[in-house]
Amino acid sequence: MVQDHPPLDVLWFIPSSGDGSYLGSDDLARPADPGYFREIAVAADRLGYSGVLIPVGAACEESFVLAADLAARTEKLNFLVAIRPGTATPAYYARLASTLDRVSNGRLLLNIVVGGSAEELAGDGIFLPHDERYDHASEFFQVFNELIETGQSTLDGRYIKAIDARLGLPPVQRPRPPIYFGGSSDAAIAFAGGFVDKYLTWGEPPDQVAEKIAHARKVAAARGREASFGIRLHLIVRETDDEAWEAADRLISKLSDETIAAAQERLTKNSDSVGQARMLALHNGRRDQLEVSPNLWAGIGLVRSGAGTALVGSPKTVGARLREYQALGIDTLIASGYPHLEEAYRVSELLFPELGLPGSRGRLRSSFGERQVFGGGGHGGNVKLP
Ligand SMILES: Cc1cc2nc3c(=O)[nH]c(=O)nc-3n(C[C@H](O)[C@H](O)[C@H](O)COP(=O)(O)O)c2cc1C
Repeated sequence: MVQDHPPLDVLWFIPSSGDGSYLGSDDLARPADPGYFREIAVAADRLGYSGVLIPVGAACEESFVLAADLAARTEKLNFLVAIRPGTATPAYYARLASTLDRVSNGRLLLNIVVGGSAEELAGDGIFLPHDERYDHASEFFQVFNELIETGQSTLDGRYIKAIDARLGLPPVQRPRPPIYFGGSSDAAIAFAGGFVDKYLTWGEPPDQVAEKIAHARKVAAARGREASFGIRLHLIVRETDDEAWEAADRLISKLSDETIAAAQERLTKNSDSVGQARMLALHNGRRDQLEVSPNLWAGIGLVRSGAGTALVGSPKTVGARLREYQALGIDTLIASGYPHLEEAYRVSELLFPELGLPGSRGRLRSSFGERQVFGGGGHGGNVKLP
């Protein structure tokens, strides 16, 4: 293992609109189920992930309510919870965020999600064109941050009006919970420069990620700020490269060309997101050119919006690819895999040692120190070796 950087901070993902084993098929699909999300959160907590991302969207469970439920059932896990400005006022979101940070004892991280589908945003009562959504978000977070940090804010803005807004109970984390954000347009990166602690990119090839990081760094520096960087990727890790590629093929083995065409049409028509367009351009809906840079596979983006790429390979291979991103300045990985419970185990057991992460090992000893191997001992337990 070669480790030039501090270990990545690795978060997992709660698939709060449902999960499955085959993209584009109902076979072995798992519907949205709060009990299942608890299983994933408890597993992620035990397996050594630092947190979980909870998305926002019309098809998802509501992110703050779900996070509160999962926080009550976990010990150390952080919750990266999506805020979509405009779905409620900054004062109301400040109370939600502060109370969630309080009930979880300081385990809240915020993910600003401005949104990239005019159709879905219209359903939420947001009718602003693409770039203006970021002007609105700037006013929103001016009030939100001031309230969270000082308990008081007033703004008579173009989009946001808050007159002597108050927050009585501060969050545990001071001055406020960290703010994460993803968006690839120039307007998004300009917004990030003013407000964001951790800038997130989709899993694009390293040269494209490098370009975005350079742009985001420059914009933040011009405002006297410094951002750090994270990447959102699926992982398909198996003991060998061949097994990992077989698993990738299996994931899209029940995906028909008609389903791909329908999904591509929906993703193109319903989105004005630059980030989404960059993900679609990686494969252009073609299933024969999915390895878009070494070990980076775009098969998931044939049907899924947002995070559409996976790193595929053995622990050694995927570890090496992740170190390439770390060399560009990435310090955080938000990972996922289908299905999310089993893959949380695979990634922790196979990949964490390669990344220099402890995983779940070392918390409880499995013997008094004798040498032993798993299997075949009393009632299926360990066999003691001389
Ligand atoms: C890591 C990450 C997580 C995101 N999570 C969500 C989400 O939960 N819901 C959503 O509607 N959009 C999500 N987005 C999309 C962005 O919020 C944004 O809407 C989109 O990228 C449009 O911005 P752009 O045109 O500036 O790229 C996410 C983006 C990134 C990079």
